[in-house]
Amino acid sequence: LSSEAALAIQQVTTLEELRELKVKYLGKKGELTGVLRGMGSLSPEERPVIGSLANEIRNHLDQLITGKEAALQAAALEEQLAKETIDVTLPGVKRNVGSLHPLHLIIEKIEDIFVGMGFEVAEGPEVETDKYNFEALNMPQEHPARDMQDSFYITPELLLRTHTSSVQVRTLEKKEGYVPVRIICPGKVYRRDDDDATHSHQFTQIEGLVVDRGVSMSELNGVLLSFIEKIFGEGTEMRLRPSYFPFTEPSVEVDIYHPEKGWIEILGAGMVHPRVLEKAGYNPERYSGFAFGMGVERIAMLKYDIDDIRHFYNNDLRFLRQFKTV
Ligand code: PHE
Repeated sequence: LSSEAALAIQQVTTLEELRELKVKYLGKKGELTGVLRGMGSLSPEERPVIGSLANEIRNHLDQLITGKEAALQAAALEEQLAKETIDVTLPGVKRNVGSLHPLHLIIEKIEDIFVGMGFEVAEGPEVETDKYNFEALNMPQEHPARDMQDSFYITPELLLRTHTSSVQVRTLEKKEGYVPVRIICPGKVYRRDDDDATHSHQFTQIEGLVVDRGVSMSELNGVLLSFIEKIFGEGTEMRLRPSYFPFTEPSVEVDIYHPEKGWIEILGAGMVHPRVLEKAGYNPERYSGFAFGMGVERIAMLKYDIDDIRHFYNNDLRFLRQFKTV
């Protein structure tokens, strides 16, 4: 019985089978228990001999079973570990992360630069009234300068704003005559242009407006030069050319020098026209200001060497992905 059981225990391969064997040999109805039960029929001389032998066998089998159990458990654990190992050298699953749109990126850069110079970021509506887009900017009905910017009218009173200058007067009204006013305003603008490599019926501008006591043209010059050097690199040359806008006097056009393209216009600017200040509730005898408006696409195209404004709107991933690391 002992060796038969020992062999069986040795050959067992699962914990389940081992448990069955334990019951078979050592259980209440097991074979060894049967031997012990039958002891009553033995002679007094035989009893202690058989009894101690049976106990010995019992202990031996018990040990074998416990040993086997430990071995099987260890093997099971090994197997589980082997199955569940993680190969840390396998390449990970790459998530496809998007990138900021180049226009968004450049707007953030420009905002950072002006916020660093004490400007706040303001906003205004894209559907604008005639008053804020033209009238309050010293362009009454029939003013010829309205033709400088062909507009999308929605009603005779409402149009898609043709420039972010509409936010100038909105901001001044909100400030209710208080100074200093020092804002920039990024946003979309709309003009009835035929789209080509350099024109788009919808594009992006950033407006700047400063109103305070004693604001001068030289401050405008300094702020713009500082901005231009930060965006295009130190030492970038800038020049102001006389120009005309109804809402600034004097007005200038600002060019930067591009090593390959030469002088390139990047924005319009000037001293806020006294009539604009007056209409917005600021006394032009006490306060002065400057304003500027730049085309964001134009600046991004120069900075990143982009040759067609339509790239910004076609959503071609090959184009957009190039700005992941900018
Ligand atoms: N609004 C003008 C344009 O769109 C730019 C400008 C803004 C000029 C502010 C002067 C002052 O062309």
